[in-house]
Amino acid sequence: MILTNASKIRGEVSIPGDKSISHRSIMFGSIAKGTTRIKGFLQGADCLSTISCFSKMGIEIKNTPDEILVYGKGLRGLSKPDSLLDVGNSGTTTRLISGILAAQDFTSHINGDASIEKRPMKRIMEPLSLMGADIVSDRGNGCTPLTINGKKLHAIDYVSPVASAQVKSSILLAGLYADGTTTVTEPALSRNHSELMLKAFGANVSSSGTTARISTTEELYAQDILVPGDISSAAYFITAALITPDSELLIKNVGINPTRTGIIKVYLDMGGKIELLNKRTIAGEEVADLLVSSSSLHGTDICGDIIPTLIDEIPVIAIAASVAEGKTVIRDAKELKVKESDRIAVMTDNLTRMGADITATDDGMIINGGKPLRYAVIDSYLDHRIAMSFAIAALVSEGGVEIKDGECVNISYPKFYEDLEKVKG
Ligand code: S3P
Repeated sequence: MILTNASKIRGEVSIPGDKSISHRSIMFGSIAKGTTRIKGFLQGADCLSTISCFSKMGIEIKNTPDEILVYGKGLRGLSKPDSLLDVGNSGTTTRLISGILAAQDFTSHINGDASIEKRPMKRIMEPLSLMGADIVSDRGNGCTPLTINGKKLHAIDYVSPVASAQVKSSILLAGLYADGTTTVTEPALSRNHSELMLKAFGANVSSSGTTARISTTEELYAQDILVPGDISSAAYFITAALITPDSELLIKNVGINPTRTGIIKVYLDMGGKIELLNKRTIAGEEVADLLVSSSSLHGTDICGDIIPTLIDEIPVIAIAASVAEGKTVIRDAKELKVKESDRIAVMTDNLTRMGADITATDDGMIINGGKPLRYAVIDSYLDHRIAMSFAIAALVSEGGVEIKDGECVNISYPKFYEDLEKVKG
C-alpha cells in the first residue's frame, strides 16, 4: 500500500460502527430470547468472525446491507458446534466467547490466526477455572487453541491484575450462568460496554468504581441496537487533521463513552483544537461530532488510569507525539506488547525508520518530537492499527510511506483508505 503526503485535510468523514459494541451485540443477541436488530454494525473481519462462531452454534444471523438480525435462542439455546470455532484475528471474540462456552453443556474448540495463537489466554483461563470451568490450552502454552468442556459454574470475587475489558467481560458472561453474585475488580476502569449492554438486555449487572458485579440471570431479552461510530477508528482522522497544516475536518458519529475518550483528553492537553459538537445519547452511549483543526502540538506525559481509556490509540498518538514539539513519555502501557502485534517494538522500529527519535521502554515509549519524518517502508506485522497509524504518518512525511500488508485494515475499518483519500487535499 503506497500512501502519499497531503497539503491539507478537509471536509467530513462518517465513522463506522464501534468494534467492541458490534461484537457484543452479536454475542448478547445470540444468547437473548427474541430477535435483536442491529444498525450501524461494523462489517470488519473481526466482527464477522463473531458472527461465524455463533452461526456455528445454531444461531441464525441475517446480515443485510441495512441491518443485522440475530434470532437469539436464549441463555441455554446454543448448540454444540460441529467444527472448530474460528476466531480469526479477534482477541475480543476469543476471550468473551470463552466466558459463554465455559457454562454450556457441550465441548468446544477455539482457534484463530498466527497472531491469536500468541496472545495470552491465561488471563481468562485462571478466573474461569476458579469459577469451575474446564478450559485447556491444547499446547500447554496458555494460548489458543483452547478446548472448553462446559460445566456448572459458581460465582467468584475476582481481583484482576490487568485493566482489561476482555477479561472483565469474559468473567461477567460466565457470571450470567453461575450461581450467586460474581464481582470483578480491575486496577483501573476499562471500557464498560458489556456492563451497559448486558443491563439493557436484562441482566442483573451493576458497577461502582472499578468493580463490576453480576448475578445469576434467568434470561436475556432481545434489543434494538444502534451502534455508534468507533472512537478508535476516529482516532486516525482526529490525528490527521491535528498534524496536517491547513486542516479542518468534521468527524461525524463518534462514540464518546468516558471509558474510551482518553485520546481526546491527551490531545487537548497537547494543545490540540478539538470541538465536541451535537452531543447526544444513542442506545445508552454518548455520541458527538468532532470538529478538528491543525494544531501546534507539544509533548506530554501519558500514564496511570488514563491508559485503558486510550490503549488502542497509543500507536497513532505516538505518530502525533513524533510531530509535536518536545518530549512525550508513555508509561504503564505494558499491555501494548500483547496486542495484535508487540506495539511498543513495532512502533519504535517503524518510527525509527522514518527518522523519529523514539526509544522503547519496558512499559511504553519515550518520543522526542519535532524531527522531520521521511519516506520509509513500514511493516504492519498484519496489525490493523499499525497500518492505519502509518497511513497518518505518511500525510506529513517527505515522500509518503509504503505499508506492507496494508490490507489488514479490514479487521476494523474496511473502507479506511477510501475515507482517507476523500479528505486529503
Ligand atoms: C476490547 C478491549 C481491549 C481493546 C480491544 C477491544 C473489548 O482489549 O484493546 O481492542 O472490546 O473489550 P483488552 O481487554 O485486552 O485491554
